[in-house]
Amino acid sequence: MSRLAFVGGTGPQGLGLALRFAQAGEAVVIGSRSASRADDAARRIRAAVPGAVADGFENLDAIGRSDRVVLALPAAALSGFLEIARSHLGGKLVIDVVVPLVQREGFFELAPLPGAPSAGELVQQAVPSARVVSAFKNVPAARLQDLHAALEGDVVFCSDDATARAEMAALVAKLAGLRAVDAGRLANARYLEAITALLLNLNHRFRAQTSIAIVGLP
Ligand SMILES: NC(=O)c1ccc[n+]([C@@H]2O[C@H](COP(=O)([O-])OP(=O)(O)OC[C@H]3O[C@@H](n4cnc5c(N)ncnc54)[C@H](OP(=O)(O)O)[C@@H]3O)[C@@H](O)[C@H]2O)c1
Repeated sequence: MSRLAFVGGTGPQGLGLALRFAQAGEAVVIGSRSASRADDAARRIRAAVPGAVADGFENLDAIGRSDRVVLALPAAALSGFLEIARSHLGGKLVIDVVVPLVQREGFFELAPLPGAPSAGELVQQAVPSARVVSAFKNVPAARLQDLHAALEGDVVFCSDDATARAEMAALVAKLAGLRAVDAGRLANARYLEAITALLLNLNHRFRAQTSIAIVGLP
């Protein structure tokens, strides 16, 4: 199995996921626009997780070292990045965690990107040969980064590729405390993104770190 690469892996969400997956025994590659920032983040992972296999490279170099790539960029940077990375992402499992949000007067709102109803669908349109899964959009970075905090709740994910969904379920199963919920079609990504806006407004209201758990599943 190839390494798990994190584009934008120096940010809270990418680094948080990389820490958790490194802790779960996955070899990780941190991507950044700057090789030295990537290197610093990888060093941080190795310091936090004894025995972790973690290295840092520029984003495209990181992608080239893995068949499984987490896109953890700000939404505003996504389209531009896909322009330059399209040919590098083809054929790979691409895990999109991007949420296009804006905050107006303290209130979080979904701000869909031009050209697609969700970030996940935008990635799939830009790289048709990639196996795009939208996931981890409702899991807070602060909780992921705090390795002393237990994870809880559901990772609801979606993809139009059944094998990609199976791979995603297996990855989520490595993270103790989280349950994988396969939501089917990638078009559900727009609702996962909207839920994040709600969670952030709840966090603001209750000074909390919320995530989701679905009840009533068989
Ligand atoms: N934070 C959360 O709790 C959370 C939860 C769920 C989903 N998400 C989503 O996950 C994604 C990442 O979140 P985050 O909080 O980690 O984001 P972030 O800190 O804003 O950005 C992540 C990384 O992206 C790189 N980056 C920033 N601007 C860029 C640009 N213009 N072009 C290319 N790369 C750029 C930076 O790395 P370098 O400077 O090293 O290149 C940065 O460290 C976002 O879409 C967010 O909505 C976040």
